Amino acid sequence: MAKRGISILKGIEAKEVTELLNKAYCDEWLAYYQYFIESKVVKGIMKDAAIAELTQHAADELRHANMVADRILQLGGTPILDPKDWITHSNCDYDAPEDPNVLSILEQSIKGEQCAISTYSALADITRDKDIVTYDIVSQILADEVEHEEDLQALYDDIHEFIAEIKKNIQ
Ligand SMILES: [Fe+2]
Ligand SMILES: [Fe+2]
Repeated sequence: MAKRGISILKGIEAKEVTELLNKAYCDEWLAYYQYFIESKVVKGIMKDAAIAELTQHAADELRHANMVADRILQLGGTPILDPKDWITHSNCDYDAPEDPNVLSILEQSIKGEQCAISTYSALADITRDKDIVTYDIVSQILADEVEHEEDLQALYDDIHEFIAEIKKNIQ
C-alpha cells in the first residue's frame, strides 16, 4: 500500500472505494465469463459477426478486471479472492445464456452493458474530485461500456433488419 498515493484522497476513505471497486471487479469477471460462454454457444443468423463481437468484449472485460484489481491493491485493499463470492458481491446479475439464439444472447448482453454503464457512472460520480486516479480509471472503463452497448445494439438492429428483409422476400 503506497501511503502518499492514498493520502491524496479527499473526503472519501480508501476502504469505501475498494469496497465499491470490488463489486465492479466481480461484475467484470462475470461479464468476461458471460461473453466467453456466449461466444461458444451462440447459434443462428450472422452468428460469426456476433462471435467476433462477443470475443472482443470478453477480452475487454478481462482487461477491466485487471485495471480494477490493480487499483484495489494500490488503495490497500484485496481483490475478491474466491470466485464463489462473485455473484453475491456483484452489481449486475449473471445471466446464463440458456437460449443460444443470437438475438436472445445479444439482448442479454445489452442488458449487462446497461448495468455496467450505471455502475461505472455511479462510481465516477462518487470519486469525482475525491479520488482522481480511480475517477480516471472508471471513466475509461465507462467509455468502453458505452461503446459495448452501442456495438451490440447496432449488431442486434442489423440482424433484426436482415431477418425482416428475408421474411419480406419469401412472402
Ligand atoms: Fe467491463
Ligand atoms: Fe462491457
